[in-house]
Amino acid sequence: MIPTDALTHPTDGAAVTHALVEAAAAAGHAPSIHNTQPWRWRLADNLLDLHIERSRVLEATDPDARLATLSCGAGLHHARVSLAAQGWHVAVTRTPDPGDPDHLARLILDRRVPVELPSLRRLQTVRLRHTDRRPVTGEPVGTADLQAITASVEAEDTWLHMLTPDQVLELAGATDHAQRTEAGETAWQAELAYWTGGTRPAGTGIPDAAIPDRATRTTVPGRTFGHPGDLPISAGRDRAAMFAMLYGRTDDPVSWLRAGEALSAGWLTATELGISLLPFSAPIEMISTRQAMRVIIASTGYPYLVVRLGHFDAAEAGPPHAPRLPTDQIIDRV
Ligand SMILES: Cc1cc2nc3c(=O)[nH]c(=O)nc-3n(C[C@H](O)[C@H](O)[C@H](O)COP(=O)(O)O)c2cc1C
Repeated sequence: MIPTDALTHPTDGAAVTHALVEAAAAAGHAPSIHNTQPWRWRLADNLLDLHIERSRVLEATDPDARLATLSCGAGLHHARVSLAAQGWHVAVTRTPDPGDPDHLARLILDRRVPVELPSLRRLQTVRLRHTDRRPVTGEPVGTADLQAITASVEAEDTWLHMLTPDQVLELAGATDHAQRTEAGETAWQAELAYWTGGTRPAGTGIPDAAIPDRATRTTVPGRTFGHPGDLPISAGRDRAAMFAMLYGRTDDPVSWLRAGEALSAGWLTATELGISLLPFSAPIEMISTRQAMRVIIASTGYPYLVVRLGHFDAAEAGPPHAPRLPTDQIIDRV
């Protein structure tokens, strides 16, 4: 731990503003569905407000905005990571205004705290984490690593269920069904083409360099992007991949926000352990397949997202980082 008095910590308004701008900028590195970055931060005095940006919510793919809210939750967790690394304790109120459902969270800096070295490391991990859609190697994920990832998720009020081999087959069927159904819908196709094609807003969407150059031969089919990308992939079959489901007690925007915070926490932990985490949201996007996912957890809760865990061959280069919007397009100063 770094003692507080070993650091220079001005507590004037300018320092608070600086810390909050840094937090919103760090949040910009968060993962989001199709890299839509559906968040907007409003900065006023000593507080930072998180709003969902409706113009970047996927109307066809995500009509309830559950995946957009989850993405905003990942951004919220990234902001919390940044503030912890800057030595601030932050009070977070989720959905603070019952009259404004798009206002997802309010962050208020309440006091200085010592900076823990793991907090500094975690902030560095924010810039390292990225999505890698290649099949994983045959090396299984160790029990201690799974426990660490599970603990990170559960610290954010979200549960993580490891799928059994039979449940992975059910997941494969549901994912295939969801993707075939979606591919048959014109509005869905147009949305995917927009966020993976050349007309998407600069700094958003999924570049070809992050899209596999052919369909993977894995048990659970990877996301169908409608066109082959430039990411070379092996003929590996993902046999050592583990699949896990984030789920929770309720199915409402606050739970989706918490699930996003949990996704970020679990993904940053996995990255620090050298483990790849890949989200699979297709089975969550359709009501019928979401229901099939719910059966897997014996209807003890509501599924939020499926993730794949595994290892990569460290000798092979992975995809580049997806682009991001400039901070002046995601932060408003009131
Ligand atoms: C809620 C959510 C759902 C996602 N679903 C998928 C998915 O089904 N398939 C996939 O390949 N990537 C998925 N992703 C990963 C995003 O495409 C990725 O985060 C985004 O393109 C930004 O890239 P980065 O994670 O490398 O920063 C998802 C991410 C989030 C937050």
